[in-house]
Amino acid sequence: MKNSKMVQYYYLGRGAISHLQELLDNKRADEEKSFVVLVIDDYFENKNILDLSYLKQQDLIIYADTREEPKTSYVDQLTNLVKTKEHLPVALVGIGGGSAMDIAKAISVLLTNPGPSEEYQGWDLVKNAPIYKIGIPTIAGTGAEFTRTAVLTGPTKKLGINSDHSVFDQVILDADLLKTVPIDQFVYTAMDCYVHNAESLLGMINDSMTIALAEKASELIEEIFLGEMDHEKLLVASSMGGLAVANSSVGICHPLSYGLSIELGLHHGYAICIAFNQLDEYYPQVKKFKEILKKYNIVLPKVINDDITDEQLDRMAEATLKNEKPLSNAFGADWKNVFSKEKVIELLKKM
Ligand SMILES: [Fe+2]
Repeated sequence: MKNSKMVQYYYLGRGAISHLQELLDNKRADEEKSFVVLVIDDYFENKNILDLSYLKQQDLIIYADTREEPKTSYVDQLTNLVKTKEHLPVALVGIGGGSAMDIAKAISVLLTNPGPSEEYQGWDLVKNAPIYKIGIPTIAGTGAEFTRTAVLTGPTKKLGINSDHSVFDQVILDADLLKTVPIDQFVYTAMDCYVHNAESLLGMINDSMTIALAEKASELIEEIFLGEMDHEKLLVASSMGGLAVANSSVGICHPLSYGLSIELGLHHGYAICIAFNQLDEYYPQVKKFKEILKKYNIVLPKVINDDITDEQLDRMAEATLKNEKPLSNAFGADWKNVFSKEKVIELLKKM
């Protein structure tokens, strides 16, 4: 039985981001010295979408480069940048998609725990309490706002800092922030949520809370994408999907997508879609997923094409098979006898 930690507070509703100022000011013990750090997806740089006029001179805004998924080296570099200040910040805020939020989660932990981020990739390796942190998603689906993981790509592995210390103290769910997301990005990221639910529901590690959350989140996603779009409902589905997967585990699709992401540099939601599209033998939800792609005129390319060498395929398969926990969630303890390297390569070749 697990003792599951959840986000303590959340605001939900249009314009909810207007509460950020009071949340930050409540944390400032000293008007002049207390500072906050905002990690914002660089998509928002020079766009005049976010009102940050209330920030103080000593506050630090980091526009995070999210073209690539967060690397351990990048997170270490940003942590060191914050450490050049005389004190630790009183709050850290992550504004953006899964990458920006995961960077903020990781920095909040690394500021109070010694050593590089690579040392904390794994489960429950963080010892010291982190900096207070707030998550504000501007795209919905990753569930990063509600999970206990900050996924980082290291030199050889893509693995999260999975810890209760990675969980946001406060989340702000503001549907207005989703308005500017390009539609294909929007769909890829939402499908990440759909896949989390499918993997939770069809895995071995789940409980009645996970099942209830994953079922409702799936239902919401289908309702939104095959019926009428509703940004607030999508934020709710993403949060529920995040909570569901946090209390269970991902399954077959995520390990395969990690292989694609590491070798080809594909963004998480996009890699998830490429992989899930070929997993109908495992997940009945692939049928509805294909209907959604069709409705939004999204045609996924073939990424494993003639340019991919056997060595690359081999590395992708190895990266996939490193994910013991998700694969045993999907297939059981003897997963290695069921899901062989040959099978992984066969699936990758279809992608
Ligand atoms: Fe995911």
